[in-house]
Amino acid sequence: MFVVITETIEQGHRTAASLVAQSIKKHPPLRLGLAAGTTPIGVYQSLVELHRSTHLDFSGVEFFSLDEFLGLCSSSPHSYHAFFHHHLFRHINANAGNIQLLEGEPQGDIDSYCRSYERLIHDRGGIDVQLLGIGVNGHLAFNEPTSSFRSRTRACLLSAETRETLSRTFKETEVPEWAVTMGLGTIAEARTLLMLAFGKEKAKVIAQAVEGPLTAAIPASSIQLHPNAVVILDAEAAEDLKFKKYYQQQSAHLTTLLPHGLV
Ligand code: GLP
Repeated sequence: MFVVITETIEQGHRTAASLVAQSIKKHPPLRLGLAAGTTPIGVYQSLVELHRSTHLDFSGVEFFSLDEFLGLCSSSPHSYHAFFHHHLFRHINANAGNIQLLEGEPQGDIDSYCRSYERLIHDRGGIDVQLLGIGVNGHLAFNEPTSSFRSRTRACLLSAETRETLSRTFKETEVPEWAVTMGLGTIAEARTLLMLAFGKEKAKVIAQAVEGPLTAAIPASSIQLHPNAVVILDAEAAEDLKFKKYYQQQSAHLTTLLPHGLV
């Protein structure tokens, strides 16, 4: 695992965006897995800035999403569909035919729908770079604690803790009880993982996920098994890491260790 520690959150956003941008330049038909949540918003803003200032071209990029709330239509302002349009797609030259997001109101049987999403990822050649956040309870996408490391795309019940955290953004609207999420096994098949966490609220869970035992109790610990996992943290999120000195050493060699971005 390659852990990069940046002094500030803004540097973390710019570092992540620059790695994604380099990957798009190296491989323009990049298949990019997107994550929602507050953490990656600044990364999307930096990518939009790069599109405006350097004409970073998204026309060949194919986008996938990690998860979505079940029961929310794509026009609901709380849906991840709306999130990605608001923070990214409406500002860049994404090709509408290349946007493959999980649906909150899929037609027909949910298990067949989930299998069809898995098939779609497979048929397109798999995800090259998957962006990830992490929940304070260690969840990855909506794989809540106790999720199997081999789990696939499926409907899942959100924990009370996750719904409580989400109520901050849902405000007076009730947080859905169910979501659809890529499984930990699905995520593990992406060629590169780019996990982000910022702020002291994430310090404890980052130490558990990055250096703790592999356990379904902390689904994000599954990334330790991935041969190409990059984790970008600010100083606060990195606070409880045992091997912080080594990560700081690695961070100073970012361009030597990742000369072409993430692909
Ligand atoms: C959400 C999402 C995850 C996200 C995580 C952290 O509920 N389903 O994909 O990574 O929780 O969110 P935040 O970045 O807002 O802390």
